[in-house]
Amino acid sequence: MSGYVVLFLIAVTLASCTQKEESVKSVMDKTIAGLYRTMDSKQLSNLNYDQVMAMFSKEDHQVLATRHWMFTVNVPVVVSVMRSTEQKDLPFWLSESGFKKTALKMNNEQVTYEVWQKSFNAGKIGLGINGFENYMLHYFVSVAPQNKSDQLELSNFFPENQYVGVLEDSAFVYHDWDELVLRNVPEAMKGQKLLTTIRGRGTETHILGAFRTTDYPSSKTPDQVMLTWSSDASTGMDIQWRTDTTVAAGEVKYREKGGMLELTAKAQRYRMEDRVLMNDRYINRFTVQLRDLKPGTTYEYQIVPQTGWTENHTFSTAEADNSFSFIWFGDTHHSPKFGELHNIAEKAHPDAAFYSIAGDMVSDGLFRNQWDDLFEFSKDVISRKPMMNVLGNHDNRSGLGALMYRELFSYPKNGPVGVPPEHTYSFRYKNAMFLMVDVTSPIDIQTSWIEDQLAHTDATWKFVMFHFPPYNWEEPYFNIQKAWVPIFDKYHVDMVMSGHIHYYMRSNPMKDGKIVKSYNEGTAYVISVGIPTGPRTITDEPYAAVRNTDGDLYQYMKIDGNQLTYTAVNSANKLIDSFSIKK
Ligand SMILES: [Fe+2]
Ligand SMILES: [Fe+2]
Repeated sequence: MSGYVVLFLIAVTLASCTQKEESVKSVMDKTIAGLYRTMDSKQLSNLNYDQVMAMFSKEDHQVLATRHWMFTVNVPVVVSVMRSTEQKDLPFWLSESGFKKTALKMNNEQVTYEVWQKSFNAGKIGLGINGFENYMLHYFVSVAPQNKSDQLELSNFFPENQYVGVLEDSAFVYHDWDELVLRNVPEAMKGQKLLTTIRGRGTETHILGAFRTTDYPSSKTPDQVMLTWSSDASTGMDIQWRTDTTVAAGEVKYREKGGMLELTAKAQRYRMEDRVLMNDRYINRFTVQLRDLKPGTTYEYQIVPQTGWTENHTFSTAEADNSFSFIWFGDTHHSPKFGELHNIAEKAHPDAAFYSIAGDMVSDGLFRNQWDDLFEFSKDVISRKPMMNVLGNHDNRSGLGALMYRELFSYPKNGPVGVPPEHTYSFRYKNAMFLMVDVTSPIDIQTSWIEDQLAHTDATWKFVMFHFPPYNWEEPYFNIQKAWVPIFDKYHVDMVMSGHIHYYMRSNPMKDGKIVKSYNEGTAYVISVGIPTGPRTITDEPYAAVRNTDGDLYQYMKIDGNQLTYTAVNSANKLIDSFSIKK
């Protein structure tokens, strides 16, 4: 079983777990609610370990000490907890529950783990939280029968779908970083049952230095107005916005631009929470899905009760012709520099029909203040042009899932089974097909979906966007090259657009990993970055046609029937790269 599959199962289980008894989450929710009642923002920011420990009742303390990680054993066992020596605070429950530190150690390329052990009888075993600090490398666990002849069986896991491996050198521990493998496992422990985890679980109870603020808190006035498509671009448009929680309902009034006939559509409302965002913990978000629009028509809309028709609240549906342009960016990381670039790109190319970001839109996808930044910087563009983005590793952080991304963007739910809805999707714009693939989800389970999409389209142009670039100077993704490149070759994908490595590279035409004569035969693999990056030394890439290490780029692509014109431009409007394809 692939590590990524298990990671996804764990993330889903965590999100959907409903326990009748008090859980670690319910204790933390309750405690943080209490803190908001009694402390000001300065006190919250300066909380120390002793203050935190003093907040919990005896019962809460017990929940935190035993209900973070649970399982049942059928015979008497010794449980080993491997905890990183780099973590400042020892998990509080280890000593008090009878775990003893041993002289045993093991390591990976990052840290050394000390081994704590305790004997248990057959039955239920409950382990505690990783800690209150922001420490990612969660402890992990191995289990061995006390009597070597016993057949050990583990069951009743929380979180569910626990992967059980074998403790040995080269074993992976974290499903969201399965290249980080163990070394120097003590001989005496080799062969024990290994309980793996995800790094993000290390911060589930992060509270020390965790409290944040947003520069752009919500209010009664709708803001973060954004367009996306979740249906046909010629007849549909989704409009999203947010308010504070005093606004209970929302709707959109819309009409053909300058027309007399006004229509109304009610919004779906949902509550969004960032538990440690001090000045704006809860917001209401609204989504309206407009359908049955006229193709090739410009509409204007109002968010009720906002009044007046404004130039900033208009959009156009796709016409029946095959001429259009769009703009995409590599990593943007919620930087004000990206905001400038987005507005510069729109000014230079007001004809662009929509925008895409190839992942790493923000730097921590579970910090709502970072999304607030992104939407604020781009607000004058995204209320008029759809944002059709794809997830990067920073948006789906450390295995904890991409809940905020799913809450924030309304995208087509037409992706592969096994990948959370809206993470991977396809959409059509005129004569072009766009496959937007979540490459932080397992690669292999998406392969047949990609092939199916490519095999059943009559689109002239086929574009695929995903965050990790298969070919790059630093860290080539051989798994993607192996799984997907043959399909891109078979159905002739015109361009693969990626980010992640924070530089610019456009490949020569590539087929089967080799340079071929023209883009009519091979695919262009492009990597870009939407924020400035320092110059750096990069090693040779024989397949590269153009490279640039300064960043701060947007890619403008214009399609006219069978002709594609491509330019990569920086924020000073300097041309960095251009080429064209004629079919
Ligand atoms: Fe990345
Ligand atoms: Fe990045």
